[in-house]
Amino acid sequence: MIQYDEQNQIFHLNNGEISYVIKITQELQLIDLYYGGAIDFENDFMDLLNQSNTGFSLQHPSGIPYEKMSMTYGTFGKYSLNEEAFLVKDKEGRVINDFIYSHYEISNQKTILTTLPSSYDNQKLSQTLILYLKERSNDLWIELHITIFPEKPLLTKHVQFKNKSSEIYTIDLAMSGVFSVDGEFDQVIAFNGAWIKEFTTVKNQLSNGKLSFSNYNGVSTHTYQPFLALAESSSRDNRGEVHGFALMYSGNFKASVEKNIYKQTKIQMGINPFLTSWDLKSDSIFETPEWISVYSDEGFDKMTHVFHDFFLNNVMPCYEENRLSDVLINSWEAFYFNIDEEKLVELGLEAKSLGVEVLLVDDGWFENRNDDTDGLGSWVLDRKKFPNGLKVIKEKTGLKLGLWFEPEMTHLKTDRIIGKNFSLTPSRNQFVLDFTREDLVDEVFEKVKKVISDFEIDIIKWDANRPISDLFSENLENQGELYHRYILGVYRFAKKLREHFPHLIIQSCSAGGGRANAGMLSFALSTWVSDNTDACERLRIQQAAAMFLPLRAIGSHVTASPNHQMLRETSFAFRSHVALFGTYGFELNILQLSSEEKEAMVKAISFFKRHRKLIQTGNYYKLKGNDLSTQDEYAHMVVSKDGREVIVGVFQIASKANWEGMRLPLKGLEKKAGYEIHGKVYTGSYLMRIGLHFKQVFTGVQSDIHEKIGKIGFGDRTSEVIYFKKCY
Ligand code: GLA
Repeated sequence: MIQYDEQNQIFHLNNGEISYVIKITQELQLIDLYYGGAIDFENDFMDLLNQSNTGFSLQHPSGIPYEKMSMTYGTFGKYSLNEEAFLVKDKEGRVINDFIYSHYEISNQKTILTTLPSSYDNQKLSQTLILYLKERSNDLWIELHITIFPEKPLLTKHVQFKNKSSEIYTIDLAMSGVFSVDGEFDQVIAFNGAWIKEFTTVKNQLSNGKLSFSNYNGVSTHTYQPFLALAESSSRDNRGEVHGFALMYSGNFKASVEKNIYKQTKIQMGINPFLTSWDLKSDSIFETPEWISVYSDEGFDKMTHVFHDFFLNNVMPCYEENRLSDVLINSWEAFYFNIDEEKLVELGLEAKSLGVEVLLVDDGWFENRNDDTDGLGSWVLDRKKFPNGLKVIKEKTGLKLGLWFEPEMTHLKTDRIIGKNFSLTPSRNQFVLDFTREDLVDEVFEKVKKVISDFEIDIIKWDANRPISDLFSENLENQGELYHRYILGVYRFAKKLREHFPHLIIQSCSAGGGRANAGMLSFALSTWVSDNTDACERLRIQQAAAMFLPLRAIGSHVTASPNHQMLRETSFAFRSHVALFGTYGFELNILQLSSEEKEAMVKAISFFKRHRKLIQTGNYYKLKGNDLSTQDEYAHMVVSKDGREVIVGVFQIASKANWEGMRLPLKGLEKKAGYEIHGKVYTGSYLMRIGLHFKQVFTGVQSDIHEKIGKIGFGDRTSEVIYFKKCY
């Protein structure tokens, strides 16, 4: 998949789906010649160098107009007048920028990062091109690692700085790479948000200039997620070119997209350089986070499928035994802090009898934790609430046991926290522990480890409910290292968890959807995408998150009606249908449900169990929806990988007078195959061109109308889930 053309000094990564072409210039600089859909190895790409010159500018012996070329990993001032991908200085503050190509290596494996999460390749079929750059007069090296996987239109990039000298250097900026694409890419799609308003899709029109998205919160953010898509304005769900990018990082990130006067679009992603600098000591390395790049020539749907498969097979710790989620009940919206053994056993027994598989004990289980003003940081079980420990809940209910943690936080200003111990900016009455300290990470880990082992915990929910502010750590000589070292501490903790408890299932959470990213998902199997559990709001949030995240990773629960955030009433069926397209669980006091609702719950759980493989591993398609604000009609579907099974969810939020009805063309079917729906056979071409048909009937006085209420078209907040199979 990787070829080196010695004569033209060109590297070509090509797997039949994607091509990435890099040239070594006469000046020993690396420039990108092409990135996009696959082009045969036979071509030499040399015409691309032959561009009209740029006039008064930097002078290059080879005559190559560098301003029209994109440096593979360049820095300002050396053959480049563009924004740099990195910035290194020596101890006198001089910019060190004369890096030249030295040699390359092709390795038959995926590079695994030592300090940060990385994707993996269990099949051992990937190849990595490692390009070595050396600074001309300093023993300072840059390694560019680019991995290509068979048949996937996807690459990963990551950069390593190596100081082999006895000097010290400062890295002020180190992006994870640059991609440069030609063409009419002028739509930039990113996610903006806030607490209970996560994953609001922003679609920006890109003309010449730059768009950038970044976060500053240190711990996590709802504001922007480290995902980005770049598309042609004519690209749609199933057509047009789209590039998708995801950074495997849970700290402060920066993403930027810039279109220059020559219509080249450059994308960069990496650690946010804001208030960040790193001392690269003698004989040490600095790794940038891994960056995943996907190319699709068949619109957003294909990009989504490539990301979903990659997350499931190469990022998440998703193996046969945990590939599908268990049906879970969470105590939070059922009882909030007001939990004890008796209540949880009662809840658990009822849940078990209805088909639930896991009981997750959320916040409120440790000493002095009766509200959010106290108790964080000790991790000692409250024996008043739980005199017999926690294992007893497992034994009495027969359910697996889950437990909530917020390992990075404390209530005590006296603890080793980030910020000087006075006048800290308040946030949920808590402070951030100084996870730049490895000893502290290890200490907290020991406490958490004890609880997990003592109570035989199967699942943990790892929360992080406040941002970092008041930047200061007594542990650091260079305060510019705080943000990144903090997140290295978080990953150290996560790695330890995985090593000690290989079967432990981790759910990531950060005040809802603050940490819904590839970095955390390389340890966790799901992420709680929002504290907004209202089914109508969740339709928008879950659909948007599913643009990148597989449904297996999207935490979704049926909660109470009226909903606790929006105070909106919805039927049990509607809530359950929305939650079905995710991990599917419950977060309400089911003891208060009516017998009809419990009956519906039993049926819904057994339906989910029958179809969870299809839902969580099939190809997901958005059929109807508005990413920008909650709208009236939503629909999505999943087709199993073998094409034999299909599930469709259709939702209408408000009923409409004299509704025109809904024709819902489906996607991803085989044109000539037959599909049996409600006893009638349709061909794939019919279902994809004409589609399913939903109508409203006259809603005046009718004797049978009550039976229909709740079905789509029959009242507010109605829905249907339709499962069908291919029959020929
Ligand atoms: C955060 C989480 C919730 C819940 C509470 C507990 O807000 O997002 O799901 O766990 O913390 O305090």
